[in-house]
Amino acid sequence: MSDTDKFDEHHNGEGDEPTRRDFIYIATAAAAAVGGGAFAWPLVSQMSAAGDTRAAGSIEIDLSKVSEGQQLKVLWRGKPVFVRYRTQKEIDEADAVDIETLRDPETDDARFVANPEGKINKHLLVMVGVCTHFGCIPVGEAGDFDGWYCPCHGSHYDTSGRIRKGPAPTNMVIPKYAYISDTVIKVG
Ligand code: FES
Repeated sequence: MSDTDKFDEHHNGEGDEPTRRDFIYIATAAAAAVGGGAFAWPLVSQMSAAGDTRAAGSIEIDLSKVSEGQQLKVLWRGKPVFVRYRTQKEIDEADAVDIETLRDPETDDARFVANPEGKINKHLLVMVGVCTHFGCIPVGEAGDFDGWYCPCHGSHYDTSGRIRKGPAPTNMVIPKYAYISDTVIKVG
C-alpha cells in the first residue's frame, strides 16, 4: 500500500475530523485537482504554480504568508505539508530535548534546510503533515509535547515534529525543499 493510499484511507475515517477545523488551508492548482477528486477540504486561498513545477510535482510556498503562531497546510502530491511559524518558546522546547531519549534521534537543527546564505530559520518548520504510523493527519498545538497529536491511535509529536509517545515509529518527514528567494521555498 502506498503512502498516498494510507493517507486517503485514513483521511476518510472519522478519526481525522478534528484536524479539519484547525488549520488554514492553501491549495495549489495542482493539489486542488487531487483534492477535488478524492475529498473536499475547505480552501481559503490558492497559490499558483508554474506549469513546469506542476509537471515536476513541485510547489512553491511563500513563507512570508505565515504569521507567528500560525500554521499553513499546503497540499503537495496529495499530502498535506505543514508550514508552522514556531514561537520562540516552541523553538526552545525543541532545543531542550536530549536526542538520546528520542525514538527517532534527530536534532531540531537537522530538520531545517539552509537558505542561500547558509542560515536556517528555526521559526519556520516545513514538514509533511502525515502521521508515520498509518497516515492520519495530526492536530497542531496538541498532545503532551505542545506539538502535534494524532487522534487515530494516540501519537504525540513535539514542536519539531519528532515522535515522543504513541505508536508512530518515526518523526514526521521533512520534505526535500530549497529556498529560491529569501522567503519562497520550492518543495519537491
Ligand atoms: S495513524 Fe497516527 S497514531 Fe496511528
